[in-house]
Amino acid sequence: MTGISQHSFDTVIRNAHIATAADTYTADIGISGGVIVAIGRDLFDGREVIDARGRFVTPGGVDAHVHLDQPTSDGSKMADDFLTGTRSAACGGTTTVIPFALQFKGCSLRTAVEEYHVRAAGKASIDYAFHLIVSDPNEAVLKDELPELIANGYTSIKVYMTYDDMKLDDRQIIDVLACARIHGAMTMIHAENSDCIGWLTERLLAAGLTAPKYHGESRPMMVEREATHRAIALAEVSEAPILIVHVSGREAIEQIHWARGRGLPVFAETCPQYLFLSEDDLSLDGFAGAKCICSPPPRDKANQQAVWTGLQNGLFTIVSSDHAPFNYDDPNGKMLHGANGSFHQVPNGIPGLETRLPLLFSEGVLAGRIDINRFVQLTSTNAAKLYGLYPRKGTIAVGSDADLVIWDTGNARTIRNEELHHAADYTPYEGREVRAWPAITLSRGTVVWADGEFYGRAGHGQFLRCERPAVVISHPKTAVATI
Ligand code: URP
Ligand code: ZN
Ligand code: ZN
Repeated sequence: MTGISQHSFDTVIRNAHIATAADTYTADIGISGGVIVAIGRDLFDGREVIDARGRFVTPGGVDAHVHLDQPTSDGSKMADDFLTGTRSAACGGTTTVIPFALQFKGCSLRTAVEEYHVRAAGKASIDYAFHLIVSDPNEAVLKDELPELIANGYTSIKVYMTYDDMKLDDRQIIDVLACARIHGAMTMIHAENSDCIGWLTERLLAAGLTAPKYHGESRPMMVEREATHRAIALAEVSEAPILIVHVSGREAIEQIHWARGRGLPVFAETCPQYLFLSEDDLSLDGFAGAKCICSPPPRDKANQQAVWTGLQNGLFTIVSSDHAPFNYDDPNGKMLHGANGSFHQVPNGIPGLETRLPLLFSEGVLAGRIDINRFVQLTSTNAAKLYGLYPRKGTIAVGSDADLVIWDTGNARTIRNEELHHAADYTPYEGREVRAWPAITLSRGTVVWADGEFYGRAGHGQFLRCERPAVVISHPKTAVATI
């Protein structure tokens, strides 16, 4: 340390009980210019000193599945834009979000990205990248727009096997997968069989069964299982790695397990709603079940357990929120077709950006289901690796951005929507007790959340160009699905 002036750092976090994806140890963290520049014992002081004695310090969360201010085609409106969504993220310990730039059929993908930049500019208080939703893989998209966008830092694509306004047929999915494979992008697949859902929905409606709970009956596990298997087959044909998003239960997990056994690079994401919500929440009195309408739907307790097991045994790569916030009591939200709207017309999606990490820390780490290193893998490191942001994001290392969470694990707290920072008028986790919450969140060295106050600034968040993910550029025949 000879020759280093007394205030060597902008900020020093002392006595941090650091947990990364691999290690847990105690050290000081020195931060300058928004970057971690030193990790060691007895570092010199910084202009700011934060004592983290007795507290876990983890990398800031990377929430790789978030819908913010995403335009819809049914007249509904998302409750959160980049201002409220990133604020909510920071207060829950997430320091990077990856929302979706959505191409409408018949429109340019490049224009969708440009428009999405306008939605984010000046509003985000934490860093963000974009996934691309491809709903019209025409020749211009496949030959021109996608290769150019991938080269410019948009290295992940989502395709849908359901939803009339977005779904692709199998041939189109293969075309996108092949393009992603050649140019170096990761493809995320929403796996539900659209025709089965359509047929089941028609039968339910014909029988007059329109309550929110029938959402679950219109999208049973087998519908997800079949599509998951088909997505894997399409990926095998095109020799492309894929990530199956929002996996909800055992039968889809079995397909992914089978694919891994064949050596295929099939990655998997699940979300808190498949751990903490169930079909019972869709069956709440009256229309209240609409609060939990999302796709795939929450399943039963046995499926919840299967998802926990998948977190424990390495099957899942990441846990994301799939934050898709619609107000409940709102004619632009869940009540788009009134307080008795049919399940099939209720906007799909639930808010969950702020509660993702506290729920998983509390019920995963503190309840002894997963260790803290696995928690970091699932909520931060693996997403950064999967989407080309590592090691800038997703770890605590010299040279990485100083995106950090200092945890309070000593106080129980009841989740109340009025205390959350999103703009949605409800949380599906209302009344649930958690035993962990971020005490302090830092985004590139700046405190954005501390002791119950949001200190972030709209415009602090920067757009992140993603590298081509290492798991994509390695040859798929030799790639493995763990990262
Ligand atoms: O219901 C959900 N998951 N809504 C968000 C859109 C999607 O498919 O991820
Ligand atoms: Zn989806
Ligand atoms: Zn989603």
